[in-house]
Amino acid sequence: MGPCADPTIRRNDLVKKRDLITIADLSDQEIEQIFSLADTFGIRGNAASQRKACSEKIMATLFYEPSTRTRLSFESSMQRLGGSVISCPDMQSSSTAKGESIADTARVVSSYADILVIRHHWDGAVRAMAEHADVPVINAGDGSHEHPTQTLCDLYTLQKEKGKLKGLTVAICGDLKHGRTNHSLVYALARFGVHVIILAARNLELPQYVIERLHADFHYSIAPMAMDDIRAAVQSTDAIYLTPSQPHQLALFTQADPEIQTRLQKLVSGLKFDAFYVTRQQKERGKQEDTRDNGDYPRIGENFLKERRFKDTVIMHPLPRVDEISRVVDMDRRGIYFKQAAYGVPIRMALLKLMFDRLETAKPKTMQQGLPRYESTEPIGSQCSNSNCVTRTESSSTRPTFEVLFNGPGSGLILRCLYCDHQFKVHFIGHATSCRYCSYDTTLEETVRKWLADRELAVFESIKQAEELGYEPYKSGPQRNIMDESEIGKAIDQMVDQVLKDTENFDRLLFIGIRTKGVFIANRMAAQIQRRQGRAVEVAEIEIYGPRGDTLRRLSSSSLEPSPVNVKDRPVILVDDVINTGRTVKSALSVIFKSGRPQSVRLAVLIDRGHREVPVKPNYVGKHLPSSERERVRVKLREVEKGERDKVVIYSLISPGFSHQRSAHNSHLRAED
Ligand code: CP
Repeated sequence: MGPCADPTIRRNDLVKKRDLITIADLSDQEIEQIFSLADTFGIRGNAASQRKACSEKIMATLFYEPSTRTRLSFESSMQRLGGSVISCPDMQSSSTAKGESIADTARVVSSYADILVIRHHWDGAVRAMAEHADVPVINAGDGSHEHPTQTLCDLYTLQKEKGKLKGLTVAICGDLKHGRTNHSLVYALARFGVHVIILAARNLELPQYVIERLHADFHYSIAPMAMDDIRAAVQSTDAIYLTPSQPHQLALFTQADPEIQTRLQKLVSGLKFDAFYVTRQQKERGKQEDTRDNGDYPRIGENFLKERRFKDTVIMHPLPRVDEISRVVDMDRRGIYFKQAAYGVPIRMALLKLMFDRLETAKPKTMQQGLPRYESTEPIGSQCSNSNCVTRTESSSTRPTFEVLFNGPGSGLILRCLYCDHQFKVHFIGHATSCRYCSYDTTLEETVRKWLADRELAVFESIKQAEELGYEPYKSGPQRNIMDESEIGKAIDQMVDQVLKDTENFDRLLFIGIRTKGVFIANRMAAQIQRRQGRAVEVAEIEIYGPRGDTLRRLSSSSLEPSPVNVKDRPVILVDDVINTGRTVKSALSVIFKSGRPQSVRLAVLIDRGHREVPVKPNYVGKHLPSSERERVRVKLREVEKGERDKVVIYSLISPGFSHQRSAHNSHLRAED
């Protein structure tokens, strides 16, 4: 049996090697060493002393996305170090086109080469491949996540031009949402004490997860700048600032040092920019509404060059450029982007040499080290919130793993994806052995730490998800009956009365029930309509937390594959038993809208608890039942609970404080029903 026959063991766990996935994988000292070594190579990297430095080595470049600079400068660097290169510049001409997984590709190619340089369009894909490769892997750009070697070129260029990094002020402009170079760069600038001004294009602001990481790891805080301050800084340029509209995200990062804060306040009219780092709009990544250019994308041109205050401001760009920088800037000494691209060779030569020299050296300690890690104990328990994360696009090659941050924003429990850094708040936690769940609050921190250490922690997006996975709530006290069979029958009748009043075209009407109980209520409503109107109404179901992911399917289908439901231009009534936070309904709405655009969607729920967290309001309600979050309302239907009559019950939930843990393990906290 090979070392990785056990799928729960990552290959990376078995092989001692250094990968470069994020800029955090290099210490400040190592970055400075790379710069010193790059100095000795010269801009073309043709220093004779290094011609044999990698003579025994082979580098493979695997590019799932186009590249000019990164791939060719890596290949030029390896050849200048005396090494050899094998390359797949277009992975569509590789076995990827036949459906080979990234895990298999990484594993195979790592037996042909001594180092892999990989670019991929999925966030976190390079980390996933590094886990399956036996040799070091360098991230040449993964989706919108990071591009650490570009950052090395950027920092090196800045340092060479300005003689230092600490204390500089750099404005980063453009598509800060999808631009991976921006993400690696802001982390690095923060590490080296640079002040960063963010000038994002509309709808393309720096993602929240980057801002939170800057705050958590580097103690950088955000101070909003007044519009006038920025106007003063960029007036009469032809657009670093996005013409007439209000800036949407305009921020000044400073170290949380009051003296520096005060100094920056004084910079209102005399703000000195050392560099503008301009980036292209990443049209290949954004949604259409993100990528519409209304002419207000930050651009630099002649007016900028004429402005006295920018006489020493250099203009940088990772390239390729589209039209963010006018060609007139190419002729100006301040336009240094071609030099920045040329430094790609000495920098990547120095990086390759360092990686081969340091194979056995431990990774630098980062702020993140020491954070507990969570791997889901359930097959579908927790998903990364980023739909472009490799854990979602190719789950077979990864194991969703998260860093756990206690006391995140709003004192919440936050999970941060190890692959793409996106983070989300945990609302419900469960104990895996006893199959009990409850909502999370800060008093449970110690309990969660213990469960995490014991690999007993499960996390859920909603009560519905917990219960679909067979978890029961922790609870105390006897349950009270809130509705009996006849009251439930009457409530459903009333909802049907309303639907009949509101519906003109029964032929097109479609009920969609949210699995499980919403489906039975939808069926009962449809059967009533058939009895009263003599018309059959189609019923479909949505499974939000099923093993196949979110699916919408025709109810009569006996096939395991979802059979398609046509929602286009139809009046839809979405049905569920209880609306708690509203998150399940929101997820269901997004599944519906992904499959087509209905004429309308109305929401019918048997019980509305009145503390919805998301703005979804039911159109038809069987009973309003204001209840606290510590209470659990449960609908029991004869179709689901064998041998029982319909009823609605309520009981309080208790949190499993530390003293309850033993009881939880011993399943003493059993449900009373
Ligand atoms: N800056 C950069 O990554 O360029 P390429 O896409 O050409 O590699």
